[in-house]
Amino acid sequence: MKLLVTGGAGFIGSNFIFYERKQHPEDRIICLDALTYAGNLETLAPVMGDPMFRFVKGDIADRAAVYALFEEEHPDYVVNFAAESHVDRSIETPELFLQTNVMGTQILLDACRKYGVKRYHQVSTDEVYGDLPLDRPDLFFTEETPIHTSSPYSASKAAADLLVLAYHRTFGLPVTLSRCSNNYGQYHFPEKLIPLMISRALADESLPVYGKGENVRDWLYVEDHCAAIDLILRNGTDGEVYNIGGHNERTNLAVVKTILHELGKPESLITYVKDRPGHDRRYAIDPTKIHRELGWEPTTGFDEGIKRTVAWYLNNRPWWEHILAGEYQDYYERMYAGR
Ligand code: NAD
Ligand code: DAU
Repeated sequence: MKLLVTGGAGFIGSNFIFYERKQHPEDRIICLDALTYAGNLETLAPVMGDPMFRFVKGDIADRAAVYALFEEEHPDYVVNFAAESHVDRSIETPELFLQTNVMGTQILLDACRKYGVKRYHQVSTDEVYGDLPLDRPDLFFTEETPIHTSSPYSASKAAADLLVLAYHRTFGLPVTLSRCSNNYGQYHFPEKLIPLMISRALADESLPVYGKGENVRDWLYVEDHCAAIDLILRNGTDGEVYNIGGHNERTNLAVVKTILHELGKPESLITYVKDRPGHDRRYAIDPTKIHRELGWEPTTGFDEGIKRTVAWYLNNRPWWEHILAGEYQDYYERMYAGR
C-alpha cells in the first residue's frame, strides 16, 4: 500500500515515518512537507536513500501542487501531520495557522475526494477540548468533551477537525481523527518546553518557566503516539475520533526539575517569566476508547521516556545545535526578551 505522510520532516511525522518503515517495510511512503522553520531534512536522512521512500517539498495549502502529487502517486492512505504547531507562535501570527491548519486540511480533503483514498487520518490535539481546572484531578477529556478552544492554534486545529468530520458526513469520505496529549522524544524542535529546557540547561542558561510553573500537561512518548496512529489507520472505524494519552500528568515545574536532575544542573537556573496569554491550565486524556476498541496502550512511562530523551539530546548535539544557530536566535529574542 501507498501512504502519503504530510509534515513528515517535523517532530512526530518523522518519528511516524521511522515507525512505519520498521513495522510495515512492504509499504511505500511519500512525505509531503513545506520545510518551514519546523521541518528539517536532516531528520529524514536515515530514509532519504530508501527506495520505498520519496520526499516531496510542497505546501498542503497549494491546491495545484497537492492535486499534481495525488495524480502522480494515487496514495491509498493519507496521514496529515502538517501544521503550524506552536501555541506561542499562533499568538504572534494567527493567519499562518488558519492558512496551513484549516485551508491546508481542506485542500487535502478535496484531493482525497477527487482521487479517492481508503482512509484520510487527521492528527489532532487534546488542545481542542480547552483546559481542565487544576483542583479537579478526577476530570479527563473524553471524545464527548465539547470543543472549547483557547489559542489561535487550538482554534485552527478544532476548525480542521470539524471540516474532517463534515467531509465524512456530507461526502462519505473515509476519515479517522485522533486527539493526542503532549508528545516528547527525539527530534522535538527546541521551541517546545522539554527540548528548550534541555538545550538551555546544557548551556547553563536560564530556564524560562511561564507563570508559577503550575500548569499540567499529560506527556506521551512519541513512539507510543505513532503506534496509536498506525492502529487507527489500519483498524479504526470511519468517522470516529480517538483520544490518545497515557496518564502521565506532570506540572511544568516538575518536568523542568526532572530535566535538571537528569543533567546534574542546579535548580537555580529556573527563572519565572510572564505567563502565556490564555494559558491552558491542565490537559488530561481519558484513553479508554482506543484501549477498549483497538487494544492500544502506551509502553514507555515518563520516567523512562525522559531519560531516553535527555540521552538523545546529549548524543545528537549537531541536530539541535544547527537549529539554535539559525533564525531561532531571533525567535528566542522576540518571545523571551523582557518577559
Ligand atoms: P512540527 O511543528 O514539529 O512539524 C510540523 C511539520 O509540518 C514540519 O515539518 C513543517 O515543515 C510541516 N509543515 C508546516 N506547514 C506546512 C504546510 N503548509 N505544508 C506542508 N508541510 C507543512 O509539529 P509536530 O509537533 O510534529 O506536530 C505534528 C502534528 O501533530 C500537528 O498537526 C500537531 O497539531 C499535532 N500534535 C502535536 C502534538 C505535540 O505534542 N507536538 C500533540 C498532539 C498533536
Ligand atoms: O497537548 C498537545 C499540544 O502540546 C500540541 O497540540 C502542540 O502542538 C504542542 O506544541 C503542545 O502544546 P503546549 O503549549 O502544551 O506545549 P509547549 O511545549 O509549548 O508548552 C508546554 C507547557 O510548558 C505549557 O504549559 C507552556 C509551558 N512553557 C513552554 C515554553 C516553551 C514554559 O513554561 N516555558 C517555555 O519556555
